[in-house]
Amino acid sequence: MQKSLLTQTLFRFAGLTQHRLAGHGLQVHRDSDVNSVKTKFAFTEENMKRVHAIMSNYPEGHKAGAVMPVLDLAQRQHGWLPISAMHEVARILGMPRMRVYEVATFYTMFNRQPVGKYFLQVCATTPCMLRGAEDITETIMKKLGIRPGESTKDGLFTLAEVECLGACVNAPMVQINDDYYEDLTPSDMNEILDELKAGKRPLPGPRSGRLAAEPLTGLTSLTEPLKGPGFGLQEGL
Ligand code: FES
Repeated sequence: MQKSLLTQTLFRFAGLTQHRLAGHGLQVHRDSDVNSVKTKFAFTEENMKRVHAIMSNYPEGHKAGAVMPVLDLAQRQHGWLPISAMHEVARILGMPRMRVYEVATFYTMFNRQPVGKYFLQVCATTPCMLRGAEDITETIMKKLGIRPGESTKDGLFTLAEVECLGACVNAPMVQINDDYYEDLTPSDMNEILDELKAGKRPLPGPRSGRLAAEPLTGLTSLTEPLKGPGFGLQEGL
């Protein structure tokens, strides 16, 4: 019994690893032409001010707490996170490089490989899968001619399949850079890609017309007029 549970866990882990490989590239560093200690990286003057502002939120002796926002800033500046940027973050925060590697390789929001201008992350976890995530991925693959883990030759798009992005109520969904596109159909996805190709920013949010995660068929609770202050209190009070 125990053995089969262990086997199941190992299979699940193997599946997740494979999934991540497709979506985010290798989780170990391999020197390449664009990603080595020789890759030039320095924060711009403006971003350096931001780094100091972020660091000022942490008390002396605890500057390492700023590692995630500072890594995020490095990624926003460079487009992804080369090892030289991690070294610079380690230097600025006065922490061992290994501690920065640990953070950057654990959180999948950090892209250790170059990504396109538009990073398409299709959620492929159960609720989205049941609501047609595979059709969304297929639509993207067909339109752009790339598979998960690949980028278009013009450097515009990178496609990844990722774990739950926390918008399950509006499944299926895709995250494109910082925006969420939800309640998607294949034709919505085609439209979004066309707009991005045309240099526009498609309106983020649900495509079904509902507001946020409200019920699709209208409100089912809190429909009566609001009661005034004191409602339900005993007269003596
Ligand atoms: S399962 Fe897709 S957002 Fe949660």
